[in-house]
Amino acid sequence: MSDDTVNIGLIGFGTIGSGVVEIFNKNTPIIEGKVKKKVNLKKIVDLDIKTDRGVEVNPDVLSTDVTDILDDPEIDIVIELIGGYQPALSFIINAMNKGKHVITANKALLAKHWEEIIENSQKNRVRICFEASVGGGIPILKPLNESLAANNIQSIYGIINGTANYILTKMAEEGRDFDEVLREAQLKGYAEQDPTFDIEGHDTAQKLIILTILGFGIYVDQEKFHVEGINRLTLEDIEFAKRELNCCIKLLAISRISNGELEVRVHPTLVNEDHLLSSVNDVFNGIYIEGDVVGPVMMYGQGAGMMPTASAVVGDCIDLIEDMDKKVTYGPVKSNFTKIKDINEIKSKYYIRLTVIDKPGVLHEISGILSDWDISLESVNQKIQGENKVIPIFMVTHESLERNLREALAKINELDIVKDDETIFIRLL
Ligand code: HSE
Repeated sequence: MSDDTVNIGLIGFGTIGSGVVEIFNKNTPIIEGKVKKKVNLKKIVDLDIKTDRGVEVNPDVLSTDVTDILDDPEIDIVIELIGGYQPALSFIINAMNKGKHVITANKALLAKHWEEIIENSQKNRVRICFEASVGGGIPILKPLNESLAANNIQSIYGIINGTANYILTKMAEEGRDFDEVLREAQLKGYAEQDPTFDIEGHDTAQKLIILTILGFGIYVDQEKFHVEGINRLTLEDIEFAKRELNCCIKLLAISRISNGELEVRVHPTLVNEDHLLSSVNDVFNGIYIEGDVVGPVMMYGQGAGMMPTASAVVGDCIDLIEDMDKKVTYGPVKSNFTKIKDINEIKSKYYIRLTVIDKPGVLHEISGILSDWDISLESVNQKIQGENKVIPIFMVTHESLERNLREALAKINELDIVKDDETIFIRLL
């Protein structure tokens, strides 16, 4: 870096990369005014440099050769926006080894290779910034890591997948079923053609890993915690929750301390309409944090999309330029936790839906099994449709141990009158 110019290399000229270029085209005077240096997007590398991205770009800065960035000693900051594990990881490590600071939006990579990336950042005394990896344009990681640093964080609850939130919102508001709303979300470009990653909770889990590192100082591998998506929810569940329980159903990322232990989990959750998170709808994201001294804090905004995500990337650029000497952004934090609580050991209130053949004594038999496992019921609703008809039964339990609930439901599912593949339970917040 010369004293008055910072050179940036961008790897990946896709949607977010084009957003980054657009922001530099539009706001460079504002950015330069803030950092008091000239900021130069010196090189943009992508395999495809022919397609028109709809943003103005000097053809001389485009290249298909990544070494034009990695081997250029004048480039101070590398922005990685190609996504995926490889070659993104090699590019990041290579850039760090050459003394370059790195910005990435790659949550999958951070969630899997956190330790290696951070070790390299420390070894090379360069910074890694990744605000865009969680919550898109919402400032969440820096506030959590810095502005809330005085707190012993008690809990993090996040609605951090726009696709799942859009589907759940539309099902609730318009009374349409899961498949129909998903198809519409795909047509509108909100959902991927293969939406598995979003609706099965994996995208949420990767973001939760990053939130958990910053909030609780512990890295938890995705294999080690419970991840459940929204694909088994039906309109019946959503409508019952709304009508009878005053709740909506949200796909929540949860990291929280409970009785001195850390719980980390992703699953659909019944959220009371009084809770702020219940107002996070459509493709929006919201992250609700409780600190021991600050109390509750909530961040809300667009968790994906070209310009919101690019806003976070360029925000990281400014942060980096203003403080390149800060030795590392993130390091292994001393944590009070060495492991997380097994999902079987958590306690919650549960909503249960069973599909049964209506016969005399059905409810008696079911409630008897629940009682054997120490589960008491707060409410039971049954649709009256006549003997031998297939009907749903909706129940809400008092706070119970999850292990007991699972064992009791396994027993209930063995009953001839229960259609076991339709049994579902959802935790209440
Ligand atoms: N696919 C994600 C979502 C955005 O639907 O929120 C990228 O993390």
